[in-house]
Amino acid sequence: MKNEPSRARSSRLKSALPIGGVRAASLCIASGKGGVGKSVLSASLAAYLATRGRTLLVDADLGMGNAHILQGVQPSSSLVDFIERGDTVGDIRTRCGEGLDLLAGGSGVPHMAGLKREDRARLAAQLAELEVAYQFLVVDSAAGISNQTMAFGAAADRLLLVVTPDVTSMTDAYGFLKVHSQVRPAGEALFVVNRVIDEAQAYQTAARFKEVSQRFLGVEPRWLGFIPDDPAVGASVNQRRPLLLAEPSSLAGRSLIGISAQIFSELECLCPRGLGRSMHAVSGGEALSDAARAAQRS
Ligand SMILES: Nc1ncnc2c1ncn2[C@@H]1O[C@H](COP(=O)(O)OP(=O)(O)OP(=O)(O)O)[C@@H](O)[C@H]1O
Ligand SMILES: [Mg+2]
Repeated sequence: MKNEPSRARSSRLKSALPIGGVRAASLCIASGKGGVGKSVLSASLAAYLATRGRTLLVDADLGMGNAHILQGVQPSSSLVDFIERGDTVGDIRTRCGEGLDLLAGGSGVPHMAGLKREDRARLAAQLAELEVAYQFLVVDSAAGISNQTMAFGAAADRLLLVVTPDVTSMTDAYGFLKVHSQVRPAGEALFVVNRVIDEAQAYQTAARFKEVSQRFLGVEPRWLGFIPDDPAVGASVNQRRPLLLAEPSSLAGRSLIGISAQIFSELECLCPRGLGRSMHAVSGGEALSDAARAAQRS
């Protein structure tokens, strides 16, 4: 299968998948600042959603992804192979468990900074085919406001920002929301506060983020909850298991279950646009990323 010409693989993928039909409801997990807990949250959320319906986790941190580590799998191929060898996204999926597949981002490939215009168009077209086979699609983004990240954030049904109480995390999250709200003015953004020392700090951080966003951007992101700073998180990372499976009764584990349940209800009730289809509809995210570039300059 690996040595099959990519065009043949592509048409085989096409014929293997249902045409049309209901698409996966999608959520893009993003942040301005790096290291705030996006992958920890994505790993557990994907594991939770997989118990409700077939789920695809997309590691959009190309070349430097670690979503596979947090799922405890060793992918034989990744989005790096999609780009460099022309593999299809159907071919590079890795099974993580019952109901959960991963499109790994590839790790230790630092030159893989982002997708070129034609790669993005190809990815969008293939995701548009693949997403009808899933009920949920979770994108674990790279940090920052690259064109690629903004394109995923704008194409997903919902954007979830992860912030921590650090001033730099909040400032960068605000910067992300500023660009996002110009690229997708009608899209409602959600956020969680991670690594808080207590409830008071969570409420204070959330209130500040909402207030600043409302005052300067005219948008108020919706707060879903907080996750305490908890050594159980680091322990689950070292065990290479989603926290929700490794330590479900830890403080952070219980918070993650609550947040995941809310996200499930949110995704289950919306009418999915289709992440791949939305990206494809705007030439593989090119229009979205052009808008993002314009917004960054403003
Ligand atoms: N609630 C928490 N309590 C304790 N440690 C945490 C918590 N959340 C995250 N961490 C720690 O922070 C580290 C970074 O988390 P993670 O990899 O999820 O961040 P990220 O936002 O995905 O980073 P990147 O921007 O590099 O992709 C984790 O390995 C974990 O050890
Ligand atoms: Mg990450």
